[in-house]
Amino acid sequence: MKATAIAPANIAFIKYWGRSNHEKFLPLSTTNSMNLASCTAKTTVEFATNYEHDEIVIIAPNTKGEILQPQDGDKSAELFKTLERLRQLAGVEYKARVRSELNFPFKAGIASSAAGMAAFATAVLTALDKRELVADLKELSRQVRLVGSVSAARSVADGFTEAILTADQTDCYVEQIAGPDHWDLVDVVAVVGEQQKKTSTSQGHLLAETSPFLPARIEYLQAETIKLASDRLVNRAEAVKQSILNKDFDMLASLSETDALNMHSVMITSTPPVFYLSPGSVKLIELVWNLRQQGLPVFFTFDAGPNAHLITLKKHAAELEKILQATEFVQYTISNEAGVGVRLVSEHLF
Ligand code: PMV
Repeated sequence: MKATAIAPANIAFIKYWGRSNHEKFLPLSTTNSMNLASCTAKTTVEFATNYEHDEIVIIAPNTKGEILQPQDGDKSAELFKTLERLRQLAGVEYKARVRSELNFPFKAGIASSAAGMAAFATAVLTALDKRELVADLKELSRQVRLVGSVSAARSVADGFTEAILTADQTDCYVEQIAGPDHWDLVDVVAVVGEQQKKTSTSQGHLLAETSPFLPARIEYLQAETIKLASDRLVNRAEAVKQSILNKDFDMLASLSETDALNMHSVMITSTPPVFYLSPGSVKLIELVWNLRQQGLPVFFTFDAGPNAHLITLKKHAAELEKILQATEFVQYTISNEAGVGVRLVSEHLF
């Protein structure tokens, strides 16, 4: 009873921050993203009689091999709970060994949990022979979300994807917006710090409710105020989707930067405040605005960490990387084209 899956991290254009239902991990709105081809997690799960307890180990460039404990909080507790829940669903009693290898820093705002949880849920369900839940993309995305993350669910489909919150707010599932070859966007991640974040995103989603700006964010996400070329008025998630389908870089840039700043405004105004950006992040925002004024198509977005995701077109990616690598506060860059979603593979980690 062993299975291995590889899943990509992703970068959100309309972000998921705060939830409409914490037990079911439902977001406050539809969110969308692009998979990152070069930032992946590979996870092997085995259920066997000789394991006395569940063991989960994460290996990443900024960890020495972290053995997760159920009481660690953050996402760890959810991983152990999921093992128990899915074991019961499959009618199995064996304990599990889980090993996950990330090829990029863990908990540094590059969606390590998205990649990790998508690979984890897919491998667990396959190892438990619940293949019908893996074969159906919508159902797999629900299963991934229920591990504890809407952003992880977005890593299930290939390319550009959206996690759709249903109108009655009782369900959220993922659909593809466009495949990875649809648009040659590149996300150059400018790493300014590899430290693990002090406030986990799990805590952050709860703290969002303490921000007086959260109601304003919900209204801003729901309002149908963005005018498309067809004169149709749509909300921001739909406008991002249309900008991807139409390959409208300027529109995506404007919607995406605005959303990142809006989300960080909620974070900063929570009690206690959650401040993920660093001086290097702010300098990169300034750099991006200057580069854009000079004619380089580029925009920024940030998740829950200081590292900037700088989105450009493939033909400008090398130039952008060169500029960033010569920038004092950038430690290194990771260039990502749009990638495929989660995959089962036959080469196991143990
Ligand atoms: O998936 P979580 O619970 O780690 O939340 C991540 C949320 C952000 O990365 C900050 C935004 C997003 O939509 O990816």
